[in-house]
Amino acid sequence: MNIVVLAMPGNESMAGRIAGAFGAEVGAVRVHRFPDGESGVRIDSDVAMRRVVIVCTLDRPDAKLVPLLLLAAAARGRDAATIGLVAPYLAYMRQDKRFHPGETISARHFAHWLSESFDWLVTADAHLHRIPSLSEVYRIPNRNVHAAPAIAAWLRSNVTRPVLIGPDEESAQWVGEVARLTSAPCIVLNKVRDGDRAVRVTVPDVERWRDCTPVLVDDIISTGRTMIETIAHLRRAALPPPVCVGVHAVFAGVTAVDFLAAGASRVVTCDTIPHPTNAIALDATLAAAVRELLPLPKCDRRNPTKGLLP
Ligand code: R5P
Repeated sequence: MNIVVLAMPGNESMAGRIAGAFGAEVGAVRVHRFPDGESGVRIDSDVAMRRVVIVCTLDRPDAKLVPLLLLAAAARGRDAATIGLVAPYLAYMRQDKRFHPGETISARHFAHWLSESFDWLVTADAHLHRIPSLSEVYRIPNRNVHAAPAIAAWLRSNVTRPVLIGPDEESAQWVGEVARLTSAPCIVLNKVRDGDRAVRVTVPDVERWRDCTPVLVDDIISTGRTMIETIAHLRRAALPPPVCVGVHAVFAGVTAVDFLAAGASRVVTCDTIPHPTNAIALDATLAAAVRELLPLPKCDRRNPTKGLLP
């Protein structure tokens, strides 16, 4: 297969590792930010009649979206055969309902914009809660790979006698699978979110796990409030310092040092967003999903069948 991998700025490491899995070329891309805040992109490699894979993780998505869409347009303008997107972290999936009158379901609009520009999508542990599958909103072929096997492998090598703790019912799908793969006990807590940075967590009956190592597992570490509140509860219950494991290291206004100060023993994340806490690699898992989608023909954009906006 004649493949060229293009990295959006900041994604060079992941793009190189995915390209390596196929023996593919990493193409040359220039993304320029003009003084007025607009973006310009240029592809300096030959992509004509080749299968293009663009790698762009989508934390802080608003600033990334315009240049990303321009890059896809540039590849299409240079006659790429197909254009796929590897977004190890897929933004906007938590905005999956109208929480207040007058709001829109942002996840659907974001999906629409990406579906217009790409022929397929690969991501990792998209936040699927009220939207049950990516195909509900993305009308292009897609794969949502799971971090649980890699997290379980990391735990087996690094943590003795773990008890897995999910901070809320939304985390049950991730923590439950890691617990199954490690044969460890698992508890899921109750969380109430009072605001962007205000979270309350209740911890039922955790005292009986005092001789285990608590391992908090969640899909996204954003403000960190969910994990930091949970750490505080475990501390009050006299459990050992927990290990915190997040799939996506968004870290919005918080650092791993804040977790350690709250009482965590360690913070580790998967490499879906480059961050100092990255310890669990998902490049091979993502590359395997790319391999499944690469042979697909270009989408027929005149005949969309799914993902219609409400
Ligand atoms: C919630 O829906 C997610 O699964 C995470 O629990 C949440 O994103 C964590 O956010 P924060 O770090 O801001 O508490």
